[in-house]
Amino acid sequence: MRNKGVSIGKVRLASNAVFAPMAGYSDLGARYLARLYGAGLTCSEMVSAKGLIYANKETRTLLEKTKIETPFAAQLFTSSPECMDKAVRLLPEGIDIVDINMGCPAPKIVKNGEGSALLNDPVLAGEIVAAAVGASSRPVTVKMRLGFAMGDFKADVLAKAVEKAGASAVTVHGRYREQMYAGSVDLGKIRAVRDAVGITLFANGDVRSFRDYERTLEMTKADGVMIGRGALGHYGLFAEIAGITVDRTPYEDISLQVEYLKKLYPERVVVNLMKHHVCAYAAGMAGVAKEIREKVHKAASFAELQAVVDGYFR
Ligand SMILES: Cc1cc2nc3c(=O)[nH]c(=O)nc-3n(C[C@H](O)[C@H](O)[C@H](O)COP(=O)(O)O)c2cc1C
Repeated sequence: MRNKGVSIGKVRLASNAVFAPMAGYSDLGARYLARLYGAGLTCSEMVSAKGLIYANKETRTLLEKTKIETPFAAQLFTSSPECMDKAVRLLPEGIDIVDINMGCPAPKIVKNGEGSALLNDPVLAGEIVAAAVGASSRPVTVKMRLGFAMGDFKADVLAKAVEKAGASAVTVHGRYREQMYAGSVDLGKIRAVRDAVGITLFANGDVRSFRDYERTLEMTKADGVMIGRGALGHYGLFAEIAGITVDRTPYEDISLQVEYLKKLYPERVVVNLMKHHVCAYAAGMAGVAKEIREKVHKAASFAELQAVVDGYFR
């Protein structure tokens, strides 16, 4: 299957495999690597529309991007069309797409009517999308799950509502909110969303190999695939999908990630973020993965973490 890229409204992506937003994981170092290896799009971690309006410093940091991330999407969450309108008007330069989170399952988000709570309120969801569409000329996209309660399929209705409100694409994670991240994805239900809307569709969930990518496209008839956990420490998957060769070692990748994170964060934060990433690289190393994980978790400083990296990856 040849990768011909895909369009989101007026924005063209060179590859139809995109890197998923993942709070605490898809930091700008990880995103830099995803793009270096050919991901068609990267997106900020989820950002509170209110945080942007109140000029929260952390929120601003989450919207920082690297120089190779064009096009780039900012993901916002809110349950208020008014907040969405204000937040979109405040987005910094260099953001090409506004993505709206309607899939986050975290209780603290859901209890405010945000994230996956919107799966049960297509009217409000449409108003939020319309507010984002009206506030700038950027294409607006929505990321959602299949539904809230297990088996209560809502994504077709929600996708239709957001398409009507002006969204240019939807991404569907093939699980219900109630599943959190457990159980398997239902690709047949993503296919049902394909039949419900004409806008660009990304299928998401459990893609860990080229074969998974092909199978997901075949089963869902989606235009593209979003990959999250399967790409961590395994960014070469994007190169395989894009049909390009990137000649780099895991050691070089880890070092580059650290370099980018150090530009933004104090050492303590860099250590915590890199612990996740080093474990993701270790996952593919038969025989030593557990040993590396244990040592990484014990590392109390950057020097200690670097010693583990030097010991196993250099
Ligand atoms: C630790 C973690 C953080 C996540 N944070 C976000 C987020 O900020 N915004 C979002 O839309 N989805 C978020 N997700 C969901 C992913 O984008 C994706 O939908 C999910 O992991 C399924 O795809 P995968 O199997 O390829 O990882 C997160 C997932 C994980 C595991």
